[in-house]
Amino acid sequence: MIEALRARVGGLERDDALLEPDRLRRRIDALDRLENHLAGGPSADAALHARIECLRATLEAANQCLYRSIREEIQRGAGAESMRGWAAAAAADGQASPPADGERYDYLDTLLSGVLQLDEPASGVAELAEEMVFYQPTPARHAFDMIRRAALAERDVLIDLGAGLGHVALLAAICTGARCIGIEREAAYVDCARRCANALNLDNATFVPQDVRSADLSAGTVFYLYTPFVGAMLDEVLSLLKRQAASREIRVCTLGPCTAIVAREPWLEATDVPKADRPALFCSV
Ligand SMILES: C[S@@+](CC[C@H](N)C(=O)[O-])C[C@H]1O[C@@H](n2cnc3c(N)ncnc32)[C@H](O)[C@@H]1O
Repeated sequence: MIEALRARVGGLERDDALLEPDRLRRRIDALDRLENHLAGGPSADAALHARIECLRATLEAANQCLYRSIREEIQRGAGAESMRGWAAAAAADGQASPPADGERYDYLDTLLSGVLQLDEPASGVAELAEEMVFYQPTPARHAFDMIRRAALAERDVLIDLGAGLGHVALLAAICTGARCIGIEREAAYVDCARRCANALNLDNATFVPQDVRSADLSAGTVFYLYTPFVGAMLDEVLSLLKRQAASREIRVCTLGPCTAIVAREPWLEATDVPKADRPALFCSV
C-alpha cells in the first residue's frame, strides 16, 4: 500500500501540467486525496509524509494564485467572462448536470469560496425563530444555472430572500449587469457579504440586514429563495410577492423544498417542469 502511495505522490510531483491554472478540478481532487492521507496522522515513512505536505502546499499555492487573478479581474469589472467560463467548463465535464443528490457541493464551490473569501462569523449568530431555515449556501453550480436561465440583464433587480453570506447575489453581480440585493436577518452575515462586495468593487451588490417580511421588495424583478423559511412564514412572503406581481411582472426562482409550495401558487407559472434537484423558475401571470 505504501508503495502505491509513493508511486501516486511521485506521479503528482512530476505532473507539471497540474499547476496550470485551468487544472483546478484535478488539483482539488488531488488535494482531497492528499489531505485524507495527512488526516491519518504522521506516517511511518516520515520522508513520504514530508513530500505529501510539500505537494499539498504547492497545489494550494497554485489555487491561491488562480483565485487572486480572478479577484483582480472582478475588481477591474472583468470577472464575468472568467466565472462564466468556469461554469461552462464544469458543465462540459459533467459536473453541472443535475446530480441525484441536488444539494451536494463540488469543485465550483471550492472555486467560488476561494474567489469570494468570505470570512464566515465563528460566533455571535442570533438564534433562528421558528420556521426560519439555518444558513446553508446554494451549491455554486445551481447559482450559475439560475443566473443563466433567468438571463439576468441590466434592467433586472435580483433579490435573494434570506441571502446568508451572499454567495448568490455576489455571483450574480459578478456575472451580470443586474443590480443584486441580498436581504438577510443575520447582521453578521450581512457584514461579511458587504466586506466581500467592497473588496471586489461590486457596486451592483448590496445587502440589507432585515427580516424579509418587513423589507422593501418594490425594486425586485427576480426573487430568489433557497428555502429560507417554511410554513406560515413562507406563505406570508409569497403573499408579499403576489402583491408585488399585481403591479408588474416578476419572476421567482427557487431551490429546495420550497419549490413544491411555490409551484402551487396560482399566480405563478413554471417556465419548465420544476425539478427538486435544480433551481426552478416561475413567472407571474
Ligand atoms: C438556506 S439559507 C440560504 C442562503 C442563501 N440564499 C444562499 O442561497 O446561499 C437561508 C437563510 O435565510 C435566512 N433567513 C431565514 N428567515 C429569514 C427572514 N425571515 N428574513 C431574512 N432572512 C431570513 C437565514 O438566516 C439563512 O441565512
